[in-house]
Amino acid sequence: MKILVTGGMGFIGSAVVRQAVAAGHGVVNLDALTYAACVENVASVAASPRYAFERADIRDRAALERIFADHAPDAVMHLAAESHVDRSIDGPGTFIETNVTGTYCLLEAARAFWMRRGRPDGFRFLHVSTDEVFGSLPPDPGARFTEATPYDPRSPYSASKAASDHLVRAWHATYGLPVLVTNCSNNYGPFHFPEKLVPVTILNALAGKPLPVYGDGSHIRDWLYVEDHAAALLLVLARGRVGQSYAIGGGNERTNLALVRTICAILDGMRPKPSGSYAGQIAFVPDRPGHDARYAIDARRIRDELGWQPSVTLEEGLARTVAWYLENEAWWRPLQARQGVGARLGLAGGVGAA
Ligand SMILES: NC(=O)c1ccc[n+]([C@@H]2O[C@H](COP(=O)([O-])OP(=O)(O)OC[C@H]3O[C@@H](n4cnc5c(N)ncnc54)[C@H](O)[C@@H]3O)[C@@H](O)[C@H]2O)c1
Repeated sequence: MKILVTGGMGFIGSAVVRQAVAAGHGVVNLDALTYAACVENVASVAASPRYAFERADIRDRAALERIFADHAPDAVMHLAAESHVDRSIDGPGTFIETNVTGTYCLLEAARAFWMRRGRPDGFRFLHVSTDEVFGSLPPDPGARFTEATPYDPRSPYSASKAASDHLVRAWHATYGLPVLVTNCSNNYGPFHFPEKLVPVTILNALAGKPLPVYGDGSHIRDWLYVEDHAAALLLVLARGRVGQSYAIGGGNERTNLALVRTICAILDGMRPKPSGSYAGQIAFVPDRPGHDARYAIDARRIRDELGWQPSVTLEEGLARTVAWYLENEAWWRPLQARQGVGARLGLAGGVGAA
């Protein structure tokens, strides 16, 4: 199968690209190369005859038309997005443009291509979204997000992703485009851009800097190893029911504070400090405005229908991740110089220009 992957230079998209090429698929990686992109993420497959790269913006309809015509993909996996909640608080405009308008442009280009080809039944448009569209769960451990949970997005990021989900479903209901939607929990793993909680914790710990924990650290996330997520996405693409959505979670609920402490304990074992634990560097900082208290996924549908389950526990996945960052300074060091990385963003202190 030839798959057009958008956002394939990002964290999750690049895991999808690597796995898809390894599985024998042709892959066209479409990416605008924003601040969050890293071409080294796909270095292991870049020389494959099954791999091609197209630098393009998903808001550029003419470029999209040309790419569909040139490559004639059998499927689209749409991961290109602005993805950082804190940046969405400071500058929501870019999130609306890429996540909403960009998804609309991609849907229209895909629909035009699909219609020109005679509406093939086997064509797929898989839209990758987030569990953040469902809002915030109460602490009750029985409460989990499912595919039927009503939407209640609360940040500019999650609102823009919710809008894009609605567009994708509308293109199925109205035009018959064969779509699939996935909503996943927080990913972690190798190649995670160093502005997100897990890599910030690892790299600040190594640098002897404070480990920022928002508020009192009680916010709960359900952590999903990125390679398990990429495998789930390829499975949904191959066998998911058209028009359905699939909630994907790691079954690993932890408070942010517990997650940071676990990373510190792993680092204490792998790269001990001369004295004391990295946990001594934990620093509580002002909370994110509108910070959702808890996310947790009930992944029964993808497990029962498609047989997917995570391959690693959170502790195993974090150990692999920490080891990867220890071995790959040449990857992360230059990224720390990119705009905004390392700064505290998203305190809603000003009016964003974009
Ligand atoms: N990271 C997570 O934990 C998580 C959780 C749930 C859902 N998601 C979703 O998964 C997808 C991928 O997330 P990620 O963490 O890999 O993101 P990322 O920020 O690491 O990568 C996004 C990629 O999209 C590209 N991009 C951005 N704007 C573009 C545009 N206008 N045109 C073309 N390319 C553009 C960037 O250059 C980058 O390579 C996103 O849709 C995100 O909303 C992520």
